[in-house]
Order: sequence, then C-alpha cells, then structure tokens
Amino acid sequence: MDDATTPSIANSAITYGPVAVVLHWLLAVLIAAAFFIGVSMVDLPFSPQRFRFFNWHKWLGIAVLMLSAARLLWRASGHRPPPTPAGMPAWQVAAYRGTHIAFYGMFFVVPLLGWAYTSAVGVPVVFLGWLPLPDFGPRDKALGEDVLKPLHAVASYVLATLVVVHVAAALKHHYVERDGLLVRMWPWWPSRRRA
Ligand code: HEM
Repeated sequence: MDDATTPSIANSAITYGPVAVVLHWLLAVLIAAAFFIGVSMVDLPFSPQRFRFFNWHKWLGIAVLMLSAARLLWRASGHRPPPTPAGMPAWQVAAYRGTHIAFYGMFFVVPLLGWAYTSAVGVPVVFLGWLPLPDFGPRDKALGEDVLKPLHAVASYVLATLVVVHVAAALKHHYVERDGLLVRMWPWWPSRRRA
C-alpha cells in the first residue's frame, strides 16, 4: 500500500526519498575527500604517506564512480526528483537543470580520467588493496603525462566550481527564498511522508 502515511524509499511529489538522500550525501563526502586528498598529495615528497594518499585517493574516486553509476540507474529507473518550487523563475529552473546535468557528467568524467591516467602510466588500481581493476585505456606514458593528467586536474577543478555554485544556490534558496529546496534533500526532514 502506498498512501500518505506509508514511508517509501522512493522520491515523492514533495521530497527526496532515503535512497536519493543517502546517495547524495555519501557522494558529497566522498567527492570532497577525493578532492582534498588529491590537492594535498601531489606536492608530497616520495614517502609512505604519499603512497597512502595516492591509494586512498584512487579508492575514493573509484567508489565515486560506482555510486554514481548506482545513482544514475536509480534516476533512470523512473525516480525523478520532486518538481522545482512553484513560481521559480525560468532562468533558475534552467540553471538548476543545467548544473544537475553537468554534475552527472563530471561524476563520471573526473574519475574515469584519473583511472585512464594511472592506467596509461602503468600504475594499475587495486581497489581497497584487494580488487585489481583492469586498465582503463591504453598504456601510453606520453598520453598519460601530457594529456590525461592535466585533463583530470582541470576537470576536478571544474567539478569543485560546480559544487561551490551548487552549495551557494542551495543556501540562497534556504535563507533568502525560503522555498524548501534544501530541506527536501536534508537527511533529518521532520517527516518523510509521501505527498
Ligand atoms: C571524484 C573523483 C575524483 C576527484 C574529485 C579527483 C580530484 C583530483 C585532484 C584535485 C587532483 C590534484 C590535481 C592537481 O592539482 O594536480 C587529483 C590528482 C590525481 N588523481 Fe584524482 N580525482 C578523482 C578520482 C580519481 C581516480 C578514480 C583516480 C584513479 C583511479 C585518480 C587518480 C589521480 C592521480 C594518480 C592523481 C595525481 C596526478 C599527479 O601525479 O599529479 N583520481 N585528483
């Protein structure tokens, strides 16, 4: 039965459901961790610490890739987001849709470029130190160093910029427009009832 009081794992007409909420916040934490470890590891001298950070970075990035695939499948299997608040200007709706499409693209592009880079330079990924992954792309040191490495760095900064814009927009909706856009993705929404 699916009525106004039945809790559901799916999105409703007024709020995101637990599956979307958990995937959203888990990905947010993993992406932030991958980004900050990535930025801090590249200038470390050769040391066990650098080696550890590189591994953690790759594992976080692969986890982002897997969860993004799960999220895309969830979204593509009919779990549409609740509609945007009534009266939202057309340009904001367009910006909202545009950033969401760009996010989905970057959730795949950034980790795949990192994976392609490390494969190209001949350092395969062993996920969590336990699961060896195949190479993603050709072994070609020049391609890795001259093309994939800078592309991975640039793409990760583009993703970070999108995150900043996304957070600023969410805070504006919450504190200025007060239209409930942030609350419906908040894990502790008072009651996750169906609309
Ligand atoms: C959402 C996922 C990811 C994010 C946000 C991310 C972000 C970053 C950032 C910010 C850097 C530093 C760039 C610089 O300032 O030079 C970096 C470097 C690096 N990333 Fe990622 N990354 C992700 C996924 C991956 C994955 C999946 C792999 C490999 C399996 C990977 C492999 C690397 C490597 C090897 C470097 C070091 C490049 C160098 O030697 O300078 N990354 N990443």
